[in-house]
Amino acid sequence: MDVVRIGMVGARFGAALHLQNLAPLRGAQVEIVGVCSVNRESAEACARRFAIPFVTTDFSALLARPDVDAVDLCIPPALHHTFAVQAAEAGKHIIVEKPLTGYFGEPGDPEPIGEMVPKAKMLEGARKNAHAVRDAIRRHKVKLCYAENWVYSPPVAKLRRLIRAAGGGILDVRAEENHSGSHSTFARRWKHSGGGALLRMGVHSVGARLHLKAYEGEVRGGRPIRPVSVVADMASLMRTETARRGPTKWIAADPEDVENWANVVIAFEDGTRGKVTVSDAGLGGLQAKIAVYLTNAVLHANMAQNTAVQAYAPGPDIFGEEYFTEKIETKAGWTFPSPDEDWFRGYPQEIRDFVDAIREDREPLAGIDLAVECTEVMGRPETPRPRASPSPVRRSAC
Ligand SMILES: NC(=O)c1ccc[n+]([C@@H]2O[C@H](COP(=O)([O-])OP(=O)(O)OC[C@H]3O[C@@H](n4cnc5c(N)ncnc54)[C@H](O)[C@@H]3O)[C@@H](O)[C@H]2O)c1
Repeated sequence: MDVVRIGMVGARFGAALHLQNLAPLRGAQVEIVGVCSVNRESAEACARRFAIPFVTTDFSALLARPDVDAVDLCIPPALHHTFAVQAAEAGKHIIVEKPLTGYFGEPGDPEPIGEMVPKAKMLEGARKNAHAVRDAIRRHKVKLCYAENWVYSPPVAKLRRLIRAAGGGILDVRAEENHSGSHSTFARRWKHSGGGALLRMGVHSVGARLHLKAYEGEVRGGRPIRPVSVVADMASLMRTETARRGPTKWIAADPEDVENWANVVIAFEDGTRGKVTVSDAGLGGLQAKIAVYLTNAVLHANMAQNTAVQAYAPGPDIFGEEYFTEKIETKAGWTFPSPDEDWFRGYPQEIRDFVDAIREDREPLAGIDLAVECTEVMGRPETPRPRASPSPVRRSAC
């Protein structure tokens, strides 16, 4: 296949991110055939902005087009698994945003889901969704490209090369993502988002953690080193007395039945550990970091604010509208404007690999195995009720 003809599904934030990074490939390697969104106005606005010739509000109409080779699913997570299965059945390759899926409730579930539905049932539901996607893509022989951008970020790519060069074993990986909260009302409720900060944000850290351990296994013996159990402590920090006393005007997070802080320890079959800390109640702009402790070296990677560019201003308005980096509360004082946020986070590299994988009929670096494994690791942890004190700790096989 010379040119991959893509149908974009979704027309807002994630779709714009993908379309921006598909732009340099359009013409020689990529054609954007159409855009589908449940909201015609936003689909039309997206089509105008990115010069896309066909607009529809009906996903089946996009799938019915013989000139669509692949669909790019930039829609809410609750729709990922059903849209992916439909696309596979129509013989289309799939690019899907993170997380692959989760548990979004079933008819008859007590509400709020995040507090009332037993977590074992949720894990089973999330696993069933993920396995349905895996079965469908295998049955219909199409590719699934899992948009876990941390795997593609240049700092993580460098970690891979350093791990290979050092030749040591990975004893411990500590990954962290932190920001001051999603503005989306969907992020507040389990039934829309399928989980809290751990699923929305921590999926990146967990994905990178699983990826590096799988990479180590392949480098050393040809087999990925798999996770065997998970311990998690989770909390809804914004519903504590401390947060209620405030002031909290700089924090956007307002969770209803989801956690917004999580600390997760993953144990691997070789006895080593990984720790993931995630919070959407942390001021200071987006932080995205990973540290790897090898038997013979230590590596630190920083995908968000780093010292590539540093700026100082005595007031917040001195740099006007110039974009700095995601979710910083102020441009006053010393700050770290990113020279190219997409590049540091791995979006152009991810899109390039997905397009090449489809063109060359090979697996992408982040594919179905990572997508399913992330679902299985994150499907289990327990969310404490808001007033629970101290937070419960659960151990479970994953
Ligand atoms: N990798 C990243 O860094 C990153 C960043 C942002 C978002 N995301 C992911 O992208 C996905 C989309 O998030 P977003 O921020 O773009 O959400 P959004 O709310 O901005 O956009 C969702 C889009 O889906 C469309 N949509 C909803 N229901 C639909 C349906 N039934 N049929 C067709 N279109 C429908 C909406 O109209 C909208 O255009 C999520 O999975 C999210 O986790 C990933």
